[in-house]
Amino acid sequence: MARRRKVYEGKAKVLFEGPEPGTLVQYFKDDATAFNNEKRGIITGKGVLNNRISEYIMTRLSEIGVPTHFMRRLNMREQLIREVEIIPLEVVVRNVAAGSLSQRLGVAEGTPLPRSIVEYYYKSDELKDPLVTEEHITCFSWATPGEIDEIMSLALRINDFLYGLFMGVGIRLVDFKCEFGRLWQGDDMRIVLADEISPDSCRLWDSQSNEKLDKDRFRRDLGGVAEAYQEVARRLGILPDGGPRDLKGPAVMQ
Ligand code: TMP
Ligand code: ASP
Repeated sequence: MARRRKVYEGKAKVLFEGPEPGTLVQYFKDDATAFNNEKRGIITGKGVLNNRISEYIMTRLSEIGVPTHFMRRLNMREQLIREVEIIPLEVVVRNVAAGSLSQRLGVAEGTPLPRSIVEYYYKSDELKDPLVTEEHITCFSWATPGEIDEIMSLALRINDFLYGLFMGVGIRLVDFKCEFGRLWQGDDMRIVLADEISPDSCRLWDSQSNEKLDKDRFRRDLGGVAEAYQEVARRLGILPDGGPRDLKGPAVMQ
């Protein structure tokens, strides 16, 4: 790692220059933050699990034709990605009311939504990621109308696919956040899924018990954060399925 130049450091990940032009190395940290940095902590083993879970999800998505920045996992905490121009939006898709939607609109957490909702938040720590509309996005040129259409249709495809994927392992995909980037290849530009998809950026509830298997365990001080992330990995078939012994350490299979 020391030999690589750091390009960017975020709250949960670091980006380093990649081995070839147009590539980056994405390093997953154990650091966790919530409520725009007000709450901070370390979740031991989280980076290893998120690297593996995000690899799995991005790989499955690319198999159904969703373009992503993911190239390959390099080791326990790093993956090789394509360098993209990040569109400064957090795109949230919701299937069930929870979190800020419940607070803002007074809808009880757990209420199924009659249809999936896509929301856009402007990525700005200073402004605390405010909710914005397509009007704001085009007015300030964060994305063109054509790009918004593409982002919305990709976000809904990702949601449909992941909803089924998680349902198959007994997990309800309540909501998730994703980010997109512009991938330039000569004069051609494609919108691709970027960043990560992991229990840091999803709400995942056990289908039977409604137990939370995501970052809300950290946000709401519920304890057992790493164990919940491990449970998600285990159900996706990424961790060995050998009972509680395997859930002790952050021992993820290579
Ligand atoms: P929210 O209910 O707090 O708006 O969150 C919606 C989804 O987006 C939830 O799955 C958590 C995820 N999320 C992030 O990944 N990063 C963020 O900064 C926020 C606010 C939410
Ligand atoms: N990741 C965001 C932060 O650091 C918020 C969140 O996930 O709750 O504040």
